Amino acid sequence: MTDRRHLLRQAAWLAGAALMPGAWTSAVAQTRMAEYPFGLGVASGDPTADGVVLWTRIAPRPREPGFGMGRAPVIVEWLVAEDAGLTRVARRGQAIAAWEAGHAVHVEVGGLRPDREYWYRFTAAGHQSPLGRTRTAPAAGAPVERLRLAYGSCQKFEAGFWSAHAGIAAETPDLVLFLGDYIYEQAAKAGALRAHPPQEPVDLDGYRLRHAWYRADGDLQAAHAAAPWMVIWDDHEVVNDYGRDQDRSNPDPKAFLRRRAAAYQAYYENMPLRRKQVPVGPDLQLYRSLDWGSLARLNFLDTRQYRDRRTCEAVSDEKRIPYDCPDRTAASRSLLGRTQERWLEGRAKDSPARWNVLAQQYLMGELKLDDGRVSNDGWDGYAQTRRRVLETWRDAKTPNPVALGGDIHCFFAGDLALRPGDAPLASEFVGGSISSLGAANDSLAASVARNPHLKFAEGQRRGYGRVELTARDCRVTFRAVDNAFVPSSPVRDLAAFVVEAGRPGLSRA
Ligand SMILES: [Fe+2]
Repeated sequence: MTDRRHLLRQAAWLAGAALMPGAWTSAVAQTRMAEYPFGLGVASGDPTADGVVLWTRIAPRPREPGFGMGRAPVIVEWLVAEDAGLTRVARRGQAIAAWEAGHAVHVEVGGLRPDREYWYRFTAAGHQSPLGRTRTAPAAGAPVERLRLAYGSCQKFEAGFWSAHAGIAAETPDLVLFLGDYIYEQAAKAGALRAHPPQEPVDLDGYRLRHAWYRADGDLQAAHAAAPWMVIWDDHEVVNDYGRDQDRSNPDPKAFLRRRAAAYQAYYENMPLRRKQVPVGPDLQLYRSLDWGSLARLNFLDTRQYRDRRTCEAVSDEKRIPYDCPDRTAASRSLLGRTQERWLEGRAKDSPARWNVLAQQYLMGELKLDDGRVSNDGWDGYAQTRRRVLETWRDAKTPNPVALGGDIHCFFAGDLALRPGDAPLASEFVGGSISSLGAANDSLAASVARNPHLKFAEGQRRGYGRVELTARDCRVTFRAVDNAFVPSSPVRDLAAFVVEAGRPGLSRA
């Protein structure tokens, strides 16, 4: 869809649905609230060279339906400063937290200086929010010595505690990438380590409550307050294994798209995203790009919303399909959809950056499972999309591509090549999971033995990845929590890798 058409549809949707007549006239601006309204913390995201998105959501009782809020809007003041003491104020303003938007606030701050740290805080109803740290991106083409980022995925609340987020917060990285499964939509399981309400969300109220339940966690709030985030989703922000309008448990695509619209709306409300990402019905454009001076171009993919239907279902065992199922390698099928594929091709062809990071949801390389089959849910189910991306990198001589992924709840490091045994074109690193449980290591070892391009796999440890980019190399460290079944567990290095600029292929650091 063109930008203009998208903007018009957004404007129409906002006018029709979000702003009900009279809503603005009854603002409780100066009303003091007895309860602390910032129970969901603060966040920032999608930095540019002159600004960043600031986020908060007014919710005095984040784990109760309704969140302790009526329908009245709340006036929220914000300020951005050059110091943590908030004395050198760079920008300030007001925003409205409206009931129609779940009392979420998204402020697109502009007029900041490139490539520097800022601190921010909100004030509402007589209370101050926690302090947030953020930063802007370097100016286009500017020389940059280093980019330090942390990336994570898959934080099933019931499965463990989020010491991994405490670890991310302690690093105060330049950027945090979250690569999907920010919430899990499933109904509560009896005997879970941490409990949440039993119902599986299917509508906006349900998804709002699940997001708030997760977001009330202190470790997660600390990671959001420590750095700007770039977020993309995977399947569980809506429902397990969905693709486009296809849902395993709901055969009616129209009904499923209504559910997807509710899930996307709640996702937008809870993430520090720009107005460009305001959903229109069941559509939300999440794929986008971020340039970090001349050092890095980061492309963020959406492998769920536009994919063709899953294939080889008739011969599948759950997601497992035979390696030689012909539709798997049909050139007509796409994991990204034509428009996103063409966009990614353009970003790869004209990239002036030293490093080209592909932030996406999955292990990108082929993964023959221990029975020799492959999954039809990720890149292996859409093998020609992978081939086209790799061929673009090869033909366009895209400088130093590196893929980062999530979804599979394991740490994986490997090289990417067009055919088995070919020289690598790129390397990839799957950053484990924040808390979701992974595969047994003996079955992973059997898989790695069948997939020689994979150099490292670990399924029993939880954690995240740290990436340090310089003109010379890309250093990736897998960071693992000692024990994610208890709170406040230490985080340590698990394994480290290096890719040298101009020499494709990873080695242990
Ligand atoms: Fe997951």
